[in-house]
Amino acid sequence: MAESVVETRNLTKVYRDFWGRRKKVALNALDLTIYRGEIFGLLGPNGSGKTTTIKLLLGLLFPTSGDAYVFGKPAVNVEKNERIGYLPEESYLYRFLNAEETLDFYGRLFDIPPDVRRERAAQLIERVGLANDRKRILREYSKGMRQRIGLAQALINDPELVILDEPTSGLDPLGTRWMKDLILELRDQGKTVLMCSHRLDDVQDVCDRIAILYNGDLQTLGEVKTLLEDANTLELRASNVKLTDELKADLAAVLQKYGGTLTSFGHPTTTLEDLFLRIVEESKQRPGRRFLPPTEGNKSAATPAAPASSGSTNSPNNSNPAPASANANGGANASHASSNKSGKKKKR
Ligand SMILES: Nc1ncnc2c1ncn2[C@@H]1O[C@H](COP(=O)(O)OP(=O)(O)OP(=O)(O)O)[C@@H](O)[C@H]1O
Ligand SMILES: [Mg+2]
Repeated sequence: MAESVVETRNLTKVYRDFWGRRKKVALNALDLTIYRGEIFGLLGPNGSGKTTTIKLLLGLLFPTSGDAYVFGKPAVNVEKNERIGYLPEESYLYRFLNAEETLDFYGRLFDIPPDVRRERAAQLIERVGLANDRKRILREYSKGMRQRIGLAQALINDPELVILDEPTSGLDPLGTRWMKDLILELRDQGKTVLMCSHRLDDVQDVCDRIAILYNGDLQTLGEVKTLLEDANTLELRASNVKLTDELKADLAAVLQKYGGTLTSFGHPTTTLEDLFLRIVEESKQRPGRRFLPPTEGNKSAATPAAPASSGSTNSPNNSNPAPASANANGGANASHASSNKSGKKKKR
């Protein structure tokens, strides 16, 4: 079993009001272990205790009872925070510093020598895609850009544990995919990641294990794969075979022989995320390409992924950017190949 990086035992936090009266049990006897090298997702509706848990782990809050350990040290010991990177749910960065100054400022807080600081800041700015905006003050940044510089700040000390509170909030689908890939990259580098998110598909795409909190209580804990597996349903995928009634009847008969029932039969669909990313990618490859809605007698142009034939897109009357056969065959094959949700997953 891998070494534990985070451990909580009966961790409880009760917020009190001004007069010290119990106001809210934000976290109730949480037992949790997070192991080195895993991506762990903390889920739960608003107010379920996710941020409270993170703040307890960082030593920003004191527990009412119970214990929390990070790297085997009590969480209230803030020295261990030098090995942690933290992206809070709300930006706290100085709005009048630019990206370079921001990273330099946080690098100084960690006592990183100037030359290492400069080199790391330049690498991180590049890595989070802000190279062209590195001299602009953060006040001018969009929400997604602030999220990117926030992540760079969280990585300036080359942390072993990265804690991300809502990392994909404010990011467009491209930014979201980029963030998810980066989180997976961090794991590949041997780092441990703890993330909170309301975006369940993001969590499903990157997390190895999750915990679900509700009203401060731990409801579920386990491997994403195992939790999501539907043991009562059999999934079968096949290629190079035509969907015919005969095939359907044969499959139903075989399944019946083993006591099963054929419940669905057909082509799987792709996800909107995959479709969006594919369209954006294709648009980058072919600047000037436009999608033209189908006109009567030319329905084939309706496929948004249809490859445009060169020179055809500027003609006002041209609503047929690709030969119909290329559409039908290319489109169907592409959707066959990319349409399974697990095939989309970036887990490595
Ligand atoms: N400083 C505080 N004083 C009193 N109550 C608080 C304080 N901070 C949080 N709470 C309460 O504790 C509970 C848990 O809050 P927390 O911020 O941990 O939730 P969360 O799961 O992060 O929610 P969200 O998804 O909205 O970010 C909530 O009921 C919240 O109102
Ligand atoms: Mg929160």
